[in-house]
Amino acid sequence: MTKLFYNFNLVQKDFLNFEKNQAMIVKDGLIQWVGSIAHCPKSKFDETIDLKNKNVLPSFVECHTHTVFAGSRANEFEQRLQGASYLEIAEKGGGILSTMRETRAATESALLKLSQMRIKNFIRQGVSVLEIKSGYGLNLESEIKMLKVIQKLQTIHAGTTGLNIVSTFLGAHAKPPEFQTYSDYLKYLTQSVLPMIKKQKLTRRVDIFIENGFFEVSESELFLKEAQRLGFDLTVHANQLTLSGAADLALKLKAQSADHVIHLNSSTIKKFGLSNANANRSRSKTKTKSTVAVLLPTADLYMKCVYPKGRQLIDSGATVALATDFNPGSCPSMDLSLVGLLARLEMKMTLSEVFRAYTINAAKALGMDKTEGSIDVKKNANFICTYADISDFFYSPGNMPDHQLFIRGNLVKI
Ligand code: NIG
Ligand code: FE
Repeated sequence: MTKLFYNFNLVQKDFLNFEKNQAMIVKDGLIQWVGSIAHCPKSKFDETIDLKNKNVLPSFVECHTHTVFAGSRANEFEQRLQGASYLEIAEKGGGILSTMRETRAATESALLKLSQMRIKNFIRQGVSVLEIKSGYGLNLESEIKMLKVIQKLQTIHAGTTGLNIVSTFLGAHAKPPEFQTYSDYLKYLTQSVLPMIKKQKLTRRVDIFIENGFFEVSESELFLKEAQRLGFDLTVHANQLTLSGAADLALKLKAQSADHVIHLNSSTIKKFGLSNANANRSRSKTKTKSTVAVLLPTADLYMKCVYPKGRQLIDSGATVALATDFNPGSCPSMDLSLVGLLARLEMKMTLSEVFRAYTINAAKALGMDKTEGSIDVKKNANFICTYADISDFFYSPGNMPDHQLFIRGNLVKI
């Protein structure tokens, strides 16, 4: 199946200027050729689609979410506004453990149904790749249940909308009540859960929430090294509450990303820049990838904490991505526009940096930049088509400009 899309402006180079009168040939979902109409190779196409001088830009990659869960924590939000801290609520059995109880009790089909509604919300905003973490099961049975739900969602969407769902194992999200210490729970995850997940081929990525007083750096290193030995890619919830050393560990282990990274000193910021420079240098010879700094500013808004140093990270040469961190506790928002707005308002990121952060850099955070994140030959033909101006994006929260989403060259209808 070969399709020709023509008559559009390609907005991608710097996300400011566009190239007019463009065409794109898509064969079996992949971009075969893209360039000016005048140079378009002549051939027979199964379908030709006039995009009527609209703007075409890469669709969004949402690289950090906790989309699968049961229950609600809306009541906790009010408690927090009345003065209770996130940690106090957690100590009383609320927080992540309250979602754990609801998620353990939910059936696979209930979780599937709840997740589908949320996923549609992401698709409506122009998302073509969506990462989803486990982490509300916190034992072998329920973590596997969550990963199986994500796997079902992957299959359903591969055959319908085309949305590419990436799963991540986050068993090390919190300590379940069955264990006395974080250290004991981490040993259980390392010895009993990781090998099962590997055996059942449930995911290729492993995440952990590293923080002082929770999963500590040195024990987490052993866990992550074991995950790496088993062939998993790594990502880390790092430096959200303190200068814990988690981001340095993520960099040392060449994790795909370190997420949150609110508390960073200048030496760690430099390391993010160096990680990118080294990856660029060795691109042709080895497979070294940079560790992407994934910033989650809507969670920071809800947590009323400081924002990460996005500007300094970018100026140091780091690869910076943005994501929602959608979850029922610290960030019950799925709004990409708000994320981008906060990046511009609070982290001094430019509009074009926000676009890069939500497309190619987010694809890098998932290790998928060879096939996703930009409109280039050999990549999936995933793009947004719109009459809106680029400056209309990431400006008005809750209000993604009107657009059509194409995934692998097919118009997504939901
Ligand atoms: O990314 N510690 C962090 N975990 C999530 C919060 C999950 C929750 O509160 O349910 C985060 O912020
Ligand atoms: Fe998170």
